[in-house]
Amino acid sequence: MSQVFIQPFQFPDLKTEQPLYIKREDLVHPIISGNKFWKLKYNLQKAKELQKTTLVTFGGAMSNHIVATAAAGKENNFKTIGIIRGEEIQNKWKDNLSLQEAYSLGMNFYFVPRKEYRLKERSKYIQEILKTIHNYYLVPEGGTNLLAVKGVSELLTEETKKFDIITTAVGTGGTISGLSVGALPHQHIIGFPALKNAQFLVKEILKLTEKENFNLNLAYHFGGYAKITLELIEFINDFYLLNHIPLDPVYTGKMMFGLREMLRKGEIPSQKKVLAIHTGGLQGIKEMNKLLTKKNIKNIII
Ligand SMILES: Cc1ncc(COP(=O)(O)O)c(C=O)c1O
Repeated sequence: MSQVFIQPFQFPDLKTEQPLYIKREDLVHPIISGNKFWKLKYNLQKAKELQKTTLVTFGGAMSNHIVATAAAGKENNFKTIGIIRGEEIQNKWKDNLSLQEAYSLGMNFYFVPRKEYRLKERSKYIQEILKTIHNYYLVPEGGTNLLAVKGVSELLTEETKKFDIITTAVGTGGTISGLSVGALPHQHIIGFPALKNAQFLVKEILKLTEKENFNLNLAYHFGGYAKITLELIEFINDFYLLNHIPLDPVYTGKMMFGLREMLRKGEIPSQKKVLAIHTGGLQGIKEMNKLLTKKNIKNIII
């Protein structure tokens, strides 16, 4: 495990006295970075206990979770299989840097139509694929399950006790659930979903935590999952130049942008100590920059 630390940071274009800190979980492991490390921890342990030989999981072509599972499999002697959203990717996956990296770590892929992917294991099509795989352990999409929640709850430690507000990016809701479980009574979690129309996630999160110590701010999805704007790119680059902390455009960039806007609007009381969790995702920047270059848009600094 690399050295994870909590450091102060500042926001570009915002003067504030508010204590702002970030927990650098992006540094927890060179590839199994951020929340992935914690979400996979007890899933890997369980797969070992059950003497499984293969990890199977689901993800989109730019999924951080797919790359992290490939790396975790390699490190822990499991074969890995990724069930990837979108049949059309079959012919062009070698151009995708995230899938290339997962492949180089030993992962094999099945590319499935989007309507089947949506159903996951309930899809007959996917069930037929699973029947052909020997002795596998299924890690759900985004790695989110109760074992993931247990792992993420350990990310809150002695050093995080002094913070009142903890913020995180939200995808499937596993990470915020883990933070909710691990939080102390005086702590409140604010989640920033990276996808549009994410209100449904509250119900999903409440299946994983009994505590109502969190809320979702739905305003900073920037058009939806993996959608970005020039304003977001400029924010990420300015943040990097000011703090030397890289943010990714799909998750942590949106969360930090949202946090700045909440502070600007006075939506977080000024005496509250804020801790943002850096959940990683930096591996996706290369692929995003490739797409930006194609569209003649400025790149994210890495
Ligand atoms: C970098 C990063 N941050 C946050 C999240 C959101 O995590 P969750 O799906 O547990 O809500 C993800 C999801 O995969 C991610 O890759």
